Amino acid sequence: MSYKDKIDLLKLPRHVAIIMDGNGRWAKDRGKLRIFGHRNGVLSVRDVVEGAVDLGVQYLTLYTFSTENWNRPKLEVMAIMELMVNTIHKEIKNFMEKNVRLNAIGDLAMLPKKCFDELNNAVETTSPNTGLVLTLALSYSSRYEIVRAAKNIAVKVQSGELSINDIDETVFENNLYTADMPDPELLIRTSGEYRISNYLLWQIAYAELYFTPKLWPDFRKEDLYEAILDYQKRERRFGMTSEQVN
Ligand code: IPE
Ligand code: IPE
Ligand code: MG
Repeated sequence: MSYKDKIDLLKLPRHVAIIMDGNGRWAKDRGKLRIFGHRNGVLSVRDVVEGAVDLGVQYLTLYTFSTENWNRPKLEVMAIMELMVNTIHKEIKNFMEKNVRLNAIGDLAMLPKKCFDELNNAVETTSPNTGLVLTLALSYSSRYEIVRAAKNIAVKVQSGELSINDIDETVFENNLYTADMPDPELLIRTSGEYRISNYLLWQIAYAELYFTPKLWPDFRKEDLYEAILDYQKRERRFGMTSEQVN
């Protein structure tokens, strides 16, 4: 029996976020170069996206490349960018078939032009789709996103469009990259690391965290289902008592 059959479809997380980690170690374990791991990681992405679509998850947000990842060896960064261009190009057909809308968050202007153009093309092409919203966090830093939101708000206050007293959590959220998305209820990190690495810091305030030792290239939809099942067993109290929420 698949974990999928045990999932309560009425209690699905609307938004699942994933820190896809462990590609390099996966390759190293096989005596290969790190890029071999990234390439195999793409197969996991495809399978997990399919799993999310089959289940009916509405938002899937994948940590694909962090701002800090720019500091990796140049050769690896270039190889990842090239892999991204090729993958996005190839996947458009699949996204159209599966009614997936592609979205991207992060400092996208940092991307090489070819990557930026391919991404924009895919975002535009898939924009009429109404199914899963697949968001790639690319050249993404949560702290940068928060500072950027603060600056946007400051500009609006300065111009008189907004008064200081109007600033509340909703205004703040509306100035994040994720303005039109619900917060993730579930955050998954692979590869056995227990950290957030500058990902969606504001948005995961009340997310359930799920860590698995599996390296990303070994992660499949069945693992996603297992994580969702684990999520469904948890009691989300939001500061209240168990009696109150039951
Ligand atoms: C995640 O795998 C992919 C990216 C960060 C781009 P890593 O490349 O971080 O793999 P490990 O953590 O070194 O094994
Ligand atoms: C986080 O993984 C970024 C992505 C998965 C894209 P890293 O491998 O860069 O994170 P650290 O360095 O282990 O914290
Ligand atoms: Mg890593």
